[in-house]
Amino acid sequence: MALETDYLVIGSGIAGLNFALLAAEHGRVVVITKKAPADTNTNWAQGGVAAVLATDDSFERHVEDTLVAGDGLCDRATVELCVNDGPAQVQRLLDLGVRLDRNAAGDLDLGREGAHSRHRVVHWEDVTGREIQRALVTAVASHANITMLDEHIAVDLLSMAKYGGDAACFGAYVLDRRTGEVKTIVARATLLASGGTGKVYVYTSNPDVATGDGVAMAYRIGAAVCDLEFVQFHPTVLYHPMARNFLLSEAMRGEGGVLRLASGETFMEHYHPMKSLASRDIVARAIDNELKKSGADSVFLDMTHLAPAFVRGRFPNIAERCLSLGIDITKQPIPVVPAAHYMCGGVKTDHTGATTLPGLYAIGECAFTGLHGANRLASNSLLEGMVFSTRAAAAVKDAPRARPSQVAPWSYGGATDSNDAIVVALNWDEIRRFMWSYVGIVRSNKRIERAGRRIEILRDEIREYYLDFKITSDLIELRNLALVAHLIIESARRRKESRGLHYTLDYPDKLAEARHSEIQLTNGPRG
Ligand code: SIN
Repeated sequence: MALETDYLVIGSGIAGLNFALLAAEHGRVVVITKKAPADTNTNWAQGGVAAVLATDDSFERHVEDTLVAGDGLCDRATVELCVNDGPAQVQRLLDLGVRLDRNAAGDLDLGREGAHSRHRVVHWEDVTGREIQRALVTAVASHANITMLDEHIAVDLLSMAKYGGDAACFGAYVLDRRTGEVKTIVARATLLASGGTGKVYVYTSNPDVATGDGVAMAYRIGAAVCDLEFVQFHPTVLYHPMARNFLLSEAMRGEGGVLRLASGETFMEHYHPMKSLASRDIVARAIDNELKKSGADSVFLDMTHLAPAFVRGRFPNIAERCLSLGIDITKQPIPVVPAAHYMCGGVKTDHTGATTLPGLYAIGECAFTGLHGANRLASNSLLEGMVFSTRAAAAVKDAPRARPSQVAPWSYGGATDSNDAIVVALNWDEIRRFMWSYVGIVRSNKRIERAGRRIEILRDEIREYYLDFKITSDLIELRNLALVAHLIIESARRRKESRGLHYTLDYPDKLAEARHSEIQLTNGPRG
């Protein structure tokens, strides 16, 4: 028996939960989340939410900073829409009970991050995402119209095309990770809010859940995806064997932190006039270049010239975590390396979050809205999640109920239990390593072609494995990860220029015309 609801939300970060709260005012919402409700990228976001609130700031400045970072590929209308909505979305967060730091005068404290020309990032200490997640999870838990299914992972979206209609989404098959049962959930509108793709790379600031599930599922049923070559590498992730993906917020450089080599020399002045506060693509590439030149394992983020009480007060969680690893950030420079952080591309959407397929919406990091262009401006992503979840919740109110009269339950077929889980682990590891080496911060035709050959071999193996064995959460994620890797490689292969986050040795210059790289499945589903 299919479970019927009005709205099915896949993912429980800022976009998914804000949508759920708003849509629950006019319908029933089921939210599925792979682990616990707070296992999200949002929960790990340190910086904050960018919004024009300072007297020396303006909407035009925020728009301009976003467009400059986006390197010619932002959609101006989308940028203006998000920036103009910033102050209202900050107010909504406060209304939801989110705590935000205030200065001595009682005004919201505004941090600064890379490529922002003004202080405009509202934050809660250095754990803003965790605070937003806390408030949203609390609000959702007490809402009678919202059902949260944790430990549930979507397997595939349901499409009318399988029932003789045009491609349109009406829900999803969902695996209960605890029991192994695959449930059918039918909905008027299905919302992908499944976050990012950081786990495609061996070094990432993302949590384990960031396996690109939304992009992969949308692509499989024929939705267009866009600009997936623009993977943002955060310049400063802690380099320490015991803390592989711990982010050191860009706000640390915004407050005066300086990047140095092991010798103590600064180097960013050789790359950009904004030095350590240049946009992320420039800083990450500069670090990558310095590491390759010297053979060193890391560069260093130096906060030691700042007042210790200020550093500890502004970055209490980072200071504590580093101290637990033996690094006193008020006394020692912190070893840092770049790591995959954010996917600027995603499932193509309009200004209501609607994808190219009826019934299917995408919001948050898994969506492509045109806001980020070729490189996202720091702290614009939580803003984007709020803006488009709000717009999507209004848009789905009148969504028609289109579904076949009989929905086929999931077919378990003749698949048997896998006795070879090592295959999944090895494939996963191999993808993440060659993606880092070949389709990472600096690319070339040769590297991209190598990655292309490897991913096709692995996808064939994974497809065989998928057909033979009972699905597990790990296998679903591996299948999605491999497809997203393929789509990143394909998007990178098509871009014959260097722009924003896509830098290739073979085409170091930017073309005069800025184009998106859109991909859509045309010849039938392929896993
Ligand atoms: C950070 O705190 O550096 C991350 C903020 C962001 O990625 O927007």
